[in-house]
Amino acid sequence: MLIKLPKSYQLNEYDVTDESVYHDRRNVLKKLGFIGASGLLAQSTSAQAGLFDLFKKDPVKAFTVSPLKYQQAPTTSQTLTPEAKVTSYNNFYEFGAQKSQPAQLAQQFKVNPWQLTISGHCNNPLTLDYEDLFSSFELEERIYRLRCVEAWSMVIPWVGFPLAKLLQKAQPNSRAKYVMFETLYDPKQMPGQKNRRLGGGISYPYVEGLRIDEAMNDLTLMSVGLYGKTLPPQNGAPIRLVVPWKYGFKSIKSIVSIKFVEHQPANTWNLLIPSEYGFYANVNPEVAHPRWSQASERRITTGGLLARNRIKTQMFNGYGEEVAAMYKGMDLSQYY
Ligand code: MTE
Repeated sequence: MLIKLPKSYQLNEYDVTDESVYHDRRNVLKKLGFIGASGLLAQSTSAQAGLFDLFKKDPVKAFTVSPLKYQQAPTTSQTLTPEAKVTSYNNFYEFGAQKSQPAQLAQQFKVNPWQLTISGHCNNPLTLDYEDLFSSFELEERIYRLRCVEAWSMVIPWVGFPLAKLLQKAQPNSRAKYVMFETLYDPKQMPGQKNRRLGGGISYPYVEGLRIDEAMNDLTLMSVGLYGKTLPPQNGAPIRLVVPWKYGFKSIKSIVSIKFVEHQPANTWNLLIPSEYGFYANVNPEVAHPRWSQASERRITTGGLLARNRIKTQMFNGYGEEVAAMYKGMDLSQYY
């Protein structure tokens, strides 16, 4: 097969900066047999184009987002990642393992009606319907850094409510030691769930978990919006988790189930490659990923090659004051 690599001037900043890391993660998937060699190249290869054609048959209807009412965050000196980048450079493997695919393939995703159930070891199990997601709790804006395990990061103005408020409503009992989260399973709507190659070889539904104290921490947010509007599907509409001191894969999208459990629940990336992705996944510049350093990251701010922005990664992504005490005495290189 003819392999046509783009010239350096044709690359956007994402391709240029952390492509080695990006390809490294994907190389593992390739070795596992889930991504063909063509999938590692730009979309211009014929195999990739063929894959895209599969999903081009339906006319693309742009998903609509609506403005939200919320308490604004205090002003910040941090440069926000432009909305256009937050909503076009995504990891949402249910809609494809390439960064640009979720924005393209999720446009017809139906988020209303929606049901989010809270169950397990609690005295007041409950179900939130679509409207409840926006009306049960006061919405507030939180400007958080999002640090992906692939060593890029963004600064995103989320809108949502603390997970603790929702969990308290369900009244967890003493057997609730962990919280387990599950993304919607709907292969009809999520092409990556029915096409193993497109979906990166993950066994769906995508699952995640937190220890109960982590879940109850005030920083842990259930997000229903960003940039003042409801979430677009590629960012996890209608509701997702945001855990800013942990690598981005903990921040599970499009959640339908939250369950109080007694034992540490499984999490998707750990299930796929346990030697590389743990349960805790706390951002830690001192513990390298087996195949790349976590000491620095590329902050995605404005566009263009000149905007490349390599910065030092902070312990707990800079949120140590709020969270370090939860891990006192733990060897974080063992509990990665
Ligand atoms: N949730 C689901 N259901 N599926 C995914 O593939 N990817 C995770 C996380 N949540 C993922 C997910 C990863 S690896 C990251 S870095 C963040 O979502 C990215 O969130 P963003 O696309 O909104 O920036």
